[in-house]
Amino acid sequence: MSPIMSLSSSSKHKYTSTSADLKIYVREISDPLARKRPITVRTWSSIKDVKDEMSKLLHVPSSVIHLYYGTNTLTSASLGRELPNRRSLNDAGIQKNGETILYEIGDPSSPLASINDVCITPSLVDLAPKSLVKIIQLAKRGFARGIKPELVMDGTGGTYFLHDARKVKVAVFKPEDEEPYGINNPRGYVSSSSRQDDSWQQSESSMRAGIKPGDACLREVAAYLLDHHGFSGVPPTTLAEARHPNFHLNGNMLKVIEGGASIGTHSLRSSRESLTDFSPISLRPTKPELPKKVGSFQEFISAECTMDDISPSKISVDEVHKIAILDIRLLNADRNSANLLVVRKYNSDSGHDVLTLVPIDHGFCLRAVADVAWFDWCWLEWPQVKQPLSLRSQKYILNIDVEADIKLMRDRLHLPQKALDLYRVTTKLLQDGVRAGMTLYDIAILCCRNDDSGRIFPITVLVAS
Ligand SMILES: Nc1ncnc2c1ncn2[C@@H]1O[C@H](COP(=O)(O)OP(=O)(O)OP(=O)(O)O)[C@@H](O)[C@H]1O
Ligand SMILES: [Mg+2]
Repeated sequence: MSPIMSLSSSSKHKYTSTSADLKIYVREISDPLARKRPITVRTWSSIKDVKDEMSKLLHVPSSVIHLYYGTNTLTSASLGRELPNRRSLNDAGIQKNGETILYEIGDPSSPLASINDVCITPSLVDLAPKSLVKIIQLAKRGFARGIKPELVMDGTGGTYFLHDARKVKVAVFKPEDEEPYGINNPRGYVSSSSRQDDSWQQSESSMRAGIKPGDACLREVAAYLLDHHGFSGVPPTTLAEARHPNFHLNGNMLKVIEGGASIGTHSLRSSRESLTDFSPISLRPTKPELPKKVGSFQEFISAECTMDDISPSKISVDEVHKIAILDIRLLNADRNSANLLVVRKYNSDSGHDVLTLVPIDHGFCLRAVADVAWFDWCWLEWPQVKQPLSLRSQKYILNIDVEADIKLMRDRLHLPQKALDLYRVTTKLLQDGVRAGMTLYDIAILCCRNDDSGRIFPITVLVAS
């Protein structure tokens, strides 16, 4: 630790306050929660000294920390001038306890400094849990440290792991333009109509009927928002905007330097409201344009394996039920066993480890078509779904406020009416099934096709009537 300063939030050293101490706060400009962290410095500390201590706290090099003083607002227009390293706090006018210095993280020496970033889509900030806000900050620091997004080996879309500054995986980002048949899908699922305009979003090509390429990320967010109180364990998910040269751009586009990839709906500005720029970064000199991608941003779950790897007999009845309830509500057409992560948790009541399920990959939920087949639900043949529902599960189902859910999906995610109508039917069916004492198996077979190819489906009739 520097002999002239200590960070009060992290220091384990004994520190005796002296009259030369100055207790100030640092706050990251892009933190929507505007959290302040206290640090104790000396009146004669230089800006470089402050950065060196913050470097230990934030786990990023001090060269990528930028400090600003003279404003408390977050807009780029009013951002104070950057404090130069050589100045002392005193010179900069920071002389009183309680002052706040703003900071942002980025590497000015890198040609990519101005473009690597990730933030929650402003229009959904209020719906994102605090835990995700924190994870966004960690992922930002990973970018600042030069740690690249890592394309996940499996899957049909572009799925990326994002890391913190210590290279620990913290999040999963799925850009909308890299979804199957999206214009920049990295696995070859590219629609023949992919062009340099936004027509790919109108493309008929799709992995599943009733969902357009680019819309799966909204379903990922919807699944989290509808999973009230985390009953089914969907990892915290929001919509984020991210920019990094490692995200995929297909060769049939104009080159990035030509600005081609930024044409169309990559930023979704035209179709989704209230997306703003990364304000502080927009102050920096213009660098080669990379598209700012919009996609789902989900907490990374460190799992032991997936349900591909173990027998369903190892999983408790309630764990299976929580997944079946979610999938029936959302008519999820992609519940294969690889989309169930298995996490081992210690249960203090029993004194044993228990296996819990974490459902992922909800891009094919809440579609405008009800064509889920028996083979889309890996749990349909597991014996647990024929067991009676617990009182807790029954209560959860009966307490779902269907109309409030529909309003949320319509107003905030703009899901199509047909998808919302289907949600109303499946949730009411679940509720009526519970009242009638049916098992989840009984209810599930009413909602899924039992053939391999047919299109006629009982729920379609229910919606029509
Ligand atoms: N929240 C998460 N935590 C940990 N790993 C995850 C998470 N989400 C996704 N993954 C990993 O990334 C892989 C691909 O993710 P996902 O299944 O969501 O992508 P996809 O391209 O939509 O795949 P699919 O072909 O199954 O539709 C998963 O199999 C899993 O290994
Ligand atoms: Mg998957």
